[in-house]
Amino acid sequence: MTAAVIFVQMISTRETESTATDVAGIPTPAATQGGEAPDARPLPDCRKGEEPALLTSYDEWPETLVDTHFALDADYAPDDLRPVSKAGFSGDFEVRKVALKDLERLRKDADQAGNPLGIVAAYRDYATQQDLYDERVKLYGRDATQARTARPGHSEHQLGVAVDFRSEDADDVDQDWEQTPEGAWMAEHAVAYGFVMSYPRQAEDITCYDYEPWHYRYFGPKRAAEISASGQTVREYLWSEQPT
Ligand code: DAL
Ligand code: ZN
Repeated sequence: MTAAVIFVQMISTRETESTATDVAGIPTPAATQGGEAPDARPLPDCRKGEEPALLTSYDEWPETLVDTHFALDADYAPDDLRPVSKAGFSGDFEVRKVALKDLERLRKDADQAGNPLGIVAAYRDYATQQDLYDERVKLYGRDATQARTARPGHSEHQLGVAVDFRSEDADDVDQDWEQTPEGAWMAEHAVAYGFVMSYPRQAEDITCYDYEPWHYRYFGPKRAAEISASGQTVREYLWSEQPT
């Protein structure tokens, strides 16, 4: 992707989780101030490591956390990848079968709303991510690359459920995409189709990547709604669920 690099210095202003209560209206033990359970493990900083990701069987895709620390094996390659043409999109991209129906619904409804979408990337295997990463390091240097491009094994694209969207009539996408009608429509509606923006604005210290308004990960509508309602980023939400 050749999107213009805009480094946004930020302070997180995201809302904290709303307080859950039991039937008597008394806060449940897990619903203390700020929505964090008392024994919740704090989210690690953006450390760089090669720790094997947990919950990596192919049917655990909604729970798998990959970040700058947790990595998938090089041979992690789901066997149910399908061309995005099955959801009506053009381009030589693939996603896991589980995401197809909602991806098609998303495309049709975006079209209907006058905001037609295209795709610039979807599944990437380990070797493709390696090539992409190496190429960008040569072009932009290591630090600039690592702010926007996952090291091989660390990309949600290897899960087969991440999609980079664009406006249908554009060749590429950049950090201003949320200001376009298509990017704004996605930001407002994607969750209803099961897609969550993994790297939102002003969360770089939490997600460990620059703002990517185009990168959405599929969770299915129910889980996407839960993640969205939590006010947490994908990384925070998945971290809170990881086995200790
Ligand atoms: N651009 C995201 C971080 C990736 O390379 O997976
Ligand atoms: Zn992406």
